[in-house]
Amino acid sequence: MKTAQTIQLLRDYESRNVMFTESDGSWPIVWERANGVHVWDAEGKKYLDLTAAFGVAAAGHANRNVVKAGQKQMAKLLHAMGDVHPHVRKAELAQKLSLLTFERWGQLSQGQSLKAKVKDAPPGATLKTKNSKLKTGKVIFSNSGFEAVESALKTALLATKKRGVIAFAGAYHGLGYGALNATHRKIFSAPFRSQLRTFGHFATFPTQPAELALVEAQIRKIFRREKIGAILVEPIQARGGTNIPPREFLPLLRKLCDEHGALLILDEIYTGFGRTGKWFACEHSGVTPDLICLGKALTGGFPLSACVGRADVMDAAWPASTGEAIHTSTFLGHPVGCAMALAQITELEKLDLPARSAELGDFLLEQLRPLQFEISNRTFQIRVRGRGLMAAVEIHLPNGKPATEIALNAIKGLLHRGYIFLPEGEHGNIISFTPPLTITPPQLSKAVVELKKVLAADEPG
Ligand SMILES: Cc1ncc(COP(=O)(O)O)c(C=O)c1O
Repeated sequence: MKTAQTIQLLRDYESRNVMFTESDGSWPIVWERANGVHVWDAEGKKYLDLTAAFGVAAAGHANRNVVKAGQKQMAKLLHAMGDVHPHVRKAELAQKLSLLTFERWGQLSQGQSLKAKVKDAPPGATLKTKNSKLKTGKVIFSNSGFEAVESALKTALLATKKRGVIAFAGAYHGLGYGALNATHRKIFSAPFRSQLRTFGHFATFPTQPAELALVEAQIRKIFRREKIGAILVEPIQARGGTNIPPREFLPLLRKLCDEHGALLILDEIYTGFGRTGKWFACEHSGVTPDLICLGKALTGGFPLSACVGRADVMDAAWPASTGEAIHTSTFLGHPVGCAMALAQITELEKLDLPARSAELGDFLLEQLRPLQFEISNRTFQIRVRGRGLMAAVEIHLPNGKPATEIALNAIKGLLHRGYIFLPEGEHGNIISFTPPLTITPPQLSKAVVELKKVLAADEPG
């Protein structure tokens, strides 16, 4: 079925709030197939995907080994019984996620303290290392990202008995009725406010070191006024506009949580699995959370998410099951999703994609930075930023207002030329780069050249 017919069917039969269409047919395209860094539309046109489809296709679209693992699992066991009769892939994935997070972080920090000891030790001294048992993680599986956030919120309430949650301006944690309390933009929550129990309190998300003192004061004030069980934060705000906080931000939140008996929940649904140049973005500042939320790139394309918590926190929060799990769902820990996640993680490891993301991210920023002075002009100005393969080009008018129309026109123009990008941020004036981590430097360079052309021409799509 061709593009126009598909779009018409959706117009007729899908809620009209879901899909945005341009009357001139310039948006959207209909995806027919995808492979690696490329997508083909229903008309057979090929595109370079600079979004990895919301960051999901980290190891490339339809990665052969991930698809194979999914197909094999599908043929063998398509569905097990969530919280009742489990299957082996779920057990393997739970262990793998513990190894990748809390157990690895424990090893990293032991390695760091050993390094520091070696540096400070007098020559010839014998070093003693603590052979303390590494902390493990325990997992609650779910389907969408927002559900992983809600698992974390429930865990924090059970563990601390305190209902309040501190989140941040610009945060996006998903749109379920729990997560919505911590998602900042009113466009998502306002229509449902009458049914929402507001337990979210918002502080400024800092992007400059000078803002840290203000943020600390705001958070301390909330802690004084409310019973707060958790701080929930994205280490880099993704949908909020690729907002990168100073490196001292997460250590500050860790300290504030420890002082006040609250849990630190990191939402790494976008930033996890190598997106920012490390396995998880918290590793840039060496902070270990109490709970981490994962989704998107976890499987490379199957709806599976996970909340991984420090085992002692999870055990303190959740009572042992007496036959009726108090938090579960029909498809919890879906066998196909678990098999794909195990294969996806193996691909990320085998291809060393987190390290590749770090290298290519530096390369991409080198390509993007010159745009700041090359094409900024009297009608708009550009700022670029990024970490790993999560980068942004922010466009402003000379008076400082967001240049939404220019950004959206550029994205439509790029789509027309065969490049898929997304706008981010409250005003949609940020063009984001979150390509598959398998993209090559020439492909990135080409995308930047095209972006420069459409911006320089400020041509409509
Ligand atoms: C940081 C973050 N958290 C949570 C979510 C929600 O995930 P989902 O859309 O799978 O519910 C998103 C989605 O973009 C996200 O970027």
